[in-house]
Amino acid sequence: MIYNYPQNIYFHWGESKNTGEHATELGGRRALIVTDKGVRQVGLLDDICTSLDAAKIAYTVFDGVQPNPTDLNVADGLNLYHSEGCDIVIAVGGGSPMDAAKGIILMTKHPGIIKEYFTGEPNRRPITGAVPPFMAVPTTSGTGSEVSRGGIISDTQENRKRVISSKHLLPKTVILDPSLTETMPPQLTAYTGLDALSHNVEAIAVDAYAPICDAFAKTGIELIHRSLFKAYSDGSDRGARRDMMYASSLGAMAFQKGLGVVHSLAHQLSPQIGVPHGAACGIMLPYAIRYNLQAESTIPKYSEVAQQLGAAPGGQRAMAYQAPQLVERLLEQLGVPKTLKDWNVTEEDIEIMAKNAMLDHCHPRNPRPCTEEAMTRFYRDAQ
Ligand SMILES: [Fe+2]
Repeated sequence: MIYNYPQNIYFHWGESKNTGEHATELGGRRALIVTDKGVRQVGLLDDICTSLDAAKIAYTVFDGVQPNPTDLNVADGLNLYHSEGCDIVIAVGGGSPMDAAKGIILMTKHPGIIKEYFTGEPNRRPITGAVPPFMAVPTTSGTGSEVSRGGIISDTQENRKRVISSKHLLPKTVILDPSLTETMPPQLTAYTGLDALSHNVEAIAVDAYAPICDAFAKTGIELIHRSLFKAYSDGSDRGARRDMMYASSLGAMAFQKGLGVVHSLAHQLSPQIGVPHGAACGIMLPYAIRYNLQAESTIPKYSEVAQQLGAAPGGQRAMAYQAPQLVERLLEQLGVPKTLKDWNVTEEDIEIMAKNAMLDHCHPRNPRPCTEEAMTRFYRDAQ
C-alpha cells in the first residue's frame, strides 16, 4: 500500500486570500485558473484574483468546465494554458474543475492524447512528474479531489467516465478555506456532504490493512455526524462549514485505500440519468451497507460507522446493523429521497447501468464481491 498526500495543506478560514503568496512559493508567474461559470458568477474568484494581483502573478480564467468534465474540456483548457504562456494551474471549485485541471496539467508535457493515460487502457502510457505546479482551492465540501491522486474525465467518444490517476497529479499546495463554502445552498450542501460521507464509509469497509486511512475515515464520519445537518440548516454556521470541509478532505485521504460498490453504482446515475453524484451516493449507501453486512469482515467496520453516526449502544453486530438506518435517518433530515423514484429510471436504463457498473474501477475493492445480477438488484431495490 502506498500513501500519497499533497505537500502543503493550508487550512484556515479566509486562507484563499493568500493564494498569490502560495502560488509565488511554487514559482508561478502566470496562472491558469480552472473553474466553472457558477463559481465565477457567485464571486468566489474575487479574493483569489485580488491576491494574485497583489503578488504580481498574471492569470487567465478558464471557466469552461462542465459538471462532469470531459476530454474536450481538458483540451480547451490546455489550449488556453499554452496560448497564454501559463506556468502554474490553480483549480477553484468543486470536483469538476479540480479533475479537469488534473487532465490539463497531465497533458501540458505528456505526449499523445488523454485517452492513452486512462486507467485500464491497454498499453497505458506512464504518468511522470513532467507536470507544472498545481494548486487546488475547493469551494464545496464533498469530493475531496484536492487531496486525491485521481481525476474522473468523461470520454466523449465512448460516452463513459474514465479515470486518470497518479501521485504526480496531486496538487502541490491545497488551500482549504471553509469561508468559500458559506454560500453553498442547502441542497448542494446536503448532496456534497453525502458524497463525503460515502467516501469515508466506503473506505473504512474496504478489506485492506490501512489503519491511517481508517483513522481518517472514522474522524470524517464523526465530523459529518456532528455538522452536516447543521451546515444544511444554517449555512452561516462557521463551525459546521469548517467540520464539513475537513471531513471532505479526510474522506479522500481515506479512500486511497479504495472505494466500493456505492461509487460504481453512482457513476452510472450521473450524468446519464441526471442524479447529482452526492445524491446518488447517499441514496445507494444504505442498500450497499445492507448487502455488505452479509460479509462477516464488515461487522466491526460498520459497527464503528454506526457508533460515529450516533447508534444506540449494543453489541458489535447489533451496532453494525443500525448503520443503514442511521444513514437513512440522515437522508430524511436532509430532505434527500431514499429512492430513485424522482428520476424515472427505466428497466432499460437499469440493464445498461448494471453492465457499466461492472466495468467501473471502484467495486473490485468492495468487501463483498459484486455481480451484474447484484448491480441490477441494487438499482431495482432503489426504484
Ligand atoms: Fe464520490
